Amino acid sequence: MEPGGFVTSPTYAKHAEKIYRMKPRSEDVWLLTFPKCGTTWTCELLWLLQNNCDYETAGKTGLTLRTPFLEMPYLSTKMQAMREMFMNVDKVEQLPSPRVIRPHMPMYLLPPTLLDTAKVVYVARNPKDVIVSYFFHHKLIKLHGFTGTMDEFAEFFMDDEVFNAPYFAHILEAWSKRDHPNMHFMFYEDMKRNLRGEIEKVAAFLGKTLGEEELVKLTEHLKFDNFKTNESVNNESGKKTGAFNQEGNFIRKGKTGDWKNHFSPELNCRINAWIEKNLAGTDLKFVTEL
Ligand code: A3P
Repeated sequence: MEPGGFVTSPTYAKHAEKIYRMKPRSEDVWLLTFPKCGTTWTCELLWLLQNNCDYETAGKTGLTLRTPFLEMPYLSTKMQAMREMFMNVDKVEQLPSPRVIRPHMPMYLLPPTLLDTAKVVYVARNPKDVIVSYFFHHKLIKLHGFTGTMDEFAEFFMDDEVFNAPYFAHILEAWSKRDHPNMHFMFYEDMKRNLRGEIEKVAAFLGKTLGEEELVKLTEHLKFDNFKTNESVNNESGKKTGAFNQEGNFIRKGKTGDWKNHFSPELNCRINAWIEKNLAGTDLKFVTEL
């Protein structure tokens, strides 16, 4: 898949080169995702695996401070002002190893040496649930100012007019690199189906060994109900800072197949056709219900 365009902000474009020229380290783990594919969930898993399951520090320090969101300070001047929350590239460069870094950008905008240097985890999620989740994300975060309907949002999504679009180019670029020894490509739906099994695979990829007790504890820690109430990861602070609307939650529903509650039969037909067109000629397959 040839790299496509990328919807971002003019402020990001000014700093894109800086991110592209970053120096990945062999001790790094980079978590790559299109938004709403399970970034926060997987990120907490990666950080804990890289930090000897240090739940104490994890509980005291918000995930955003432990695992920098690379492009976030460059998305708007408001984000730049939130210096405490989002580390700029200079700060990320100074972080001690092991770092867990999570950009939403497609691979072709990341340092070209990334895959040959660091460990890369890519998490994909079926596009129907991503559309629904991204719709609610746009309703939750004030900066987006989105007031439209699900139908309208889905059309924006399919027309590649949402932040970080195009969705398919993002996933297919990583999919084409899934056999690289430094790449672990995984699906949100598999985490839903068998969280413990997916944790074991990620741990093996990172060369970590977990005992039975640690594995049970980590699986419990990452379960939706526990995650939702964990203030270190659930982003509820966005409500206190005023960045989020009071209604809704960042850790929202955590289901596969929620799209069935939100798509009309007509919209579902259009989305099916869009998915079919974009997957033609690829061997990527999505699970849209469990
Ligand atoms: P929903 O909006 O469908 O509930 P990201 O972190 O990439 O923004 O992804 C957010 C999505 O992951 C949301 O999906 C959120 O609820 C879901 N999620 C977060 N933690 C989860 C968990 N522990 N189990 C299942 N889903 C989770």
